[in-house]
Amino acid sequence: MRTPSWPGPRRIAHRGGGKLAPENTLAGIREGIARGYRAVEFDVMLTADEVPVLMHDPNFGRTIAGRGSVAATRWEDLATRDAGVWFSSRYAGERVPRYEDVVRFCQANGVWMNVEIKPAPGFEVVTGRIVGEMTGRLFADQSGRAGWPLFSSFSIEALASARAAAPHVPRGLLFDVIPETGVEAARALDCISVHANHRKLREEDIARLHDAGLAVMTYTVNEQRRAEQLADWGVDAICTDRIDRLRP
Ligand code: G3P
Ligand code: MG
Repeated sequence: MRTPSWPGPRRIAHRGGGKLAPENTLAGIREGIARGYRAVEFDVMLTADEVPVLMHDPNFGRTIAGRGSVAATRWEDLATRDAGVWFSSRYAGERVPRYEDVVRFCQANGVWMNVEIKPAPGFEVVTGRIVGEMTGRLFADQSGRAGWPLFSSFSIEALASARAAAPHVPRGLLFDVIPETGVEAARALDCISVHANHRKLREEDIARLHDAGLAVMTYTVNEQRRAEQLADWGVDAICTDRIDRLRP
């Protein structure tokens, strides 16, 4: 049996800067850095012209004003949209960043990345492939696994496609609740970890995953007490929105 090993820091800022800055923006990642975080989780989706960008929702209306979808919008258009004002007027003018620019920023600032591949429905395979290929290129000069990001996805298809494009980038399979078949599914993709919602995560789940050689990341943990309990249970990493409350 393999001993599970987690490849990055054990506390990760969710969607860039958690709840302290607009999600999935460079301003968010900067906020995390200012608070001592050196690990970030963010979501990556494709525009209509297949540019990977940081985005959680497939449709506009929450972080991007108006109607429409990311998958139907070209990069040159999306690049003009405001991605910060929904959060606070202080962030007016903040843009949707391209994945490529975020990787370069994180590399320059020593920030480890959990890249959640978040395909718009129907774009699973192409999103996994393009994110995989781009990551392979952006990390081509890295030797060993230490600097590699970790891919994760709720989509098995996207993760399988990323694996085919960049087999050397480690992978984690994402769940809300870990199903009975969770270990089997993670193994089929040669994952190193399983990521699960902490609200439904039990101590015995962590033991079972560790026994199977899988590390465990859990999201989105915003209370210090719960973080300590999960650490006692042996969880390998947590992802948090409260980068002010939980020390990196
Ligand atoms: O990767 C952990 C977490 O980000 C998954 O949920 O919806 O916040 O992307 P979501
Ligand atoms: Mg995410």
